Amino acid sequence: MLISFLRLFLDLEYLNKMNYKAPKIIEFKKIGEPSLGYISVAEVEEYVPFDIKRVYWTYFTPDHVQRGGHAHKQLEQILIAVSGNIKIYLKDQEENEAVFELNKPDAGLYIPKGYWRDISFSHNAVLVCIASKVYDEDDYIRDYTEFIK
Ligand code: TYD
Repeated sequence: MLISFLRLFLDLEYLNKMNYKAPKIIEFKKIGEPSLGYISVAEVEEYVPFDIKRVYWTYFTPDHVQRGGHAHKQLEQILIAVSGNIKIYLKDQEENEAVFELNKPDAGLYIPKGYWRDISFSHNAVLVCIASKVYDEDDYIRDYTEFIK
């Protein structure tokens, strides 16, 4: 009885932790200590609420350039600034805005499907993206007026 209660409780905790419906900063575990350095891990079912189908990274983006300028129909992503500083400006289809800043390698931003994003970078920034689907241009909405329709 106690064991099944504990199992139920742990399951609910697990569901709660992985129940990402809105954009959300994820604090990854940080294994290590200053004298040794650190490891952070993005593992499916602990921090990543989808099966990982693709990982890509961007780098050497000049600091006056904004990337993004699109939304995705189905794609879910976690963005991590493994170095440098990255600002992500999000909008939903009702044009509600949210701004997130990533500036440490043990944090990531979960972006559900259906959010318009514009992204700016410090020149030393390396953005790693963990994605739920392989690259598919048909999944992109690149026209803002089409996005807010
Ligand atoms: P895009 O997703 O528009 O980049 P950003 O939002 O950072 O400006 O992609 C830029 C180009 O790279 C575009 O021509 C498609 C190509 N690309 C791939 O071929 N595979 C990928 O996984 C990604 C993310 C982009």
